[in-house]
Amino acid sequence: MTEKPHVSGSYWLRTAPGGAARPALEDDLDVDVAVIGAGVAGLSTAWELARAGRSVAVLEAGRVAAGVTGHTTAKLTALHTLKYDKLRRTRGTEGARLYARSQTEAIEHAAEVVAELGIDCDWESRSAYTYVCDAGRVDELRAEAAAAKEAGLPASFVTETGLPFPVAGAVRVTGQAQFHPRKYLLALAEDLVARGGRIFEHTTVHGLDEGTPCRVSTGTGATVTARDVVVATHYPIFDRALLFARLSPRRELVVAGNIGTDRDPDGMYITPDEGTRSVRTAPLDGESGDRLLVVTGEHFTPGTGDTRERFDRLSAWAHDHFPGVDLTYAWATQDIDPTDTVPMVGPLHPGAHHTYVATGFGGWGLSGGMMAGRLLTAQITGEECAWSGLYDPRRLRTAVREAPALLKLQAEVAGHFVGDRLRPAPPVDSLPPGEGAVVRVGGDRLAVHRDDAGTLHAVSPRCTHLGCLVSFNAAERAWECPCHGSRFDTDGKVIEGPATKPLERRDI
Ligand SMILES: Cc1cc2nc3c(=O)[nH]c(=O)nc-3n(C[C@H](O)[C@H](O)[C@H](O)COP(=O)(O)OP(=O)(O)OC[C@H]3O[C@@H](n4cnc5c(N)ncnc54)[C@H](O)[C@@H]3O)c2cc1C
Ligand code: FES
Repeated sequence: MTEKPHVSGSYWLRTAPGGAARPALEDDLDVDVAVIGAGVAGLSTAWELARAGRSVAVLEAGRVAAGVTGHTTAKLTALHTLKYDKLRRTRGTEGARLYARSQTEAIEHAAEVVAELGIDCDWESRSAYTYVCDAGRVDELRAEAAAAKEAGLPASFVTETGLPFPVAGAVRVTGQAQFHPRKYLLALAEDLVARGGRIFEHTTVHGLDEGTPCRVSTGTGATVTARDVVVATHYPIFDRALLFARLSPRRELVVAGNIGTDRDPDGMYITPDEGTRSVRTAPLDGESGDRLLVVTGEHFTPGTGDTRERFDRLSAWAHDHFPGVDLTYAWATQDIDPTDTVPMVGPLHPGAHHTYVATGFGGWGLSGGMMAGRLLTAQITGEECAWSGLYDPRRLRTAVREAPALLKLQAEVAGHFVGDRLRPAPPVDSLPPGEGAVVRVGGDRLAVHRDDAGTLHAVSPRCTHLGCLVSFNAAERAWECPCHGSRFDTDGKVIEGPATKPLERRDI
């Protein structure tokens, strides 16, 4: 029997599919600031800059808010699983305080924007919880609650939650929020354009010439000239400070479905147990009062392992822990973990004067992306920001502490670069419909996918970023690179960077 992809697409994209279609960039343009990428980080930055009186152009390879931001869980919280106990050890009490304040102010600011612009984005105030069921981890949670409180959050250790199963302990932070990320960002895009900002979709950026002014070149052939450039492409497509040595991609799965009217666990939950499980609900469209349960988990390096089995495990967990849930959605997306766990927001490299980056949100890029928008706007307009140093991508202070994580990451990348080339290649005839593999044909390796009709599609297996070998994800029908997370469709087109060029088509 033909195996169908496990994915149905994101609920957020299904329920807010539209937004005005934006043109591709056709003619050269001159602006104060060019922002590359229209996810939460890029759009928040562009909007803040337009509000500060700058002329802005946003260049987006796909559609607005349809990248990671269109596939997220959309909790807006400063409680980031287990962050503060580690932060106070690595960045001191002041570093932990600045982190809490920067994230909290970003969320409060978003609430003000929602009110000011009258955005209908299902904004709901909720408590956020990090919980464990394993009694052996309770001390860790108590330490996290104490550190989060010391950092200034309304945090406490509790043993009762709204979950329909017992927990050994939890950190609770009150006054957090959840929302519909795409409804929020489509409204922000609309307001940006009303303020004179320009947004170009289907415009892939390929080149950046740093100078006075900077020049950004695009796949359409048109160029944008700008005093300042912000690289908000999730994984940075320009990396002149070898940031990729400190960033690792992490793919995660999401399943969602109707939980009815009266089984809402009334809160936003995450546990580091079982390879992470994250839970929230959202109002289902319609008048019924039904709630959508959204469950996230099963994180892994893109291009490794069997994603279908992982979807099955996550769905089984959702059914076991929330009996009666009717799962109808499944999708996947990925975020980037920095080796020292703090996002990188600020100048692109040590010699940069007018180029900036926002990346490495470690699973918390909604508050992080909103924070980045305000931080980069302050830097571009020449204002002080108390947390510039904390998020500075050029930071070296933590380099020694980071060393073990950095070495581990580089060893993994080297393992993929060399080891994946030694993998035995299956014969092409053995590929069933829906599958793909790196095979040997003659003396060449080819990445080959057999579609449902039996037709073979062949592309080069060498990732166009830095040359690692891609692997096939059968659940999502995509080629994925384990080194830095680039993803390509079955004909080699880029779905997700840092690669900006397609895998070369090959004849078979
Ligand atoms: C499963 C999961 C759940 C999550 N849940 C939460 C949560 O509950 N709360 C939270 O705070 N965070 C959460 N996160 C993290 C958060 O979703 C991300 O950190 C955030 O959305 C990243 O935003 P971004 O703007 O950096 O990236 P994106 O939204 O991916 O935007 C980048 C944009 O750049 C464009 N682009 C890329 N290359 C080019 C190019 N060459 N030219 C032009 N454009 C380009 C892309 O098309 C894309 O639209 C979650 C992450 C995952 C994986
Ligand atoms: S994403 Fe860097 S080599 Fe593929």
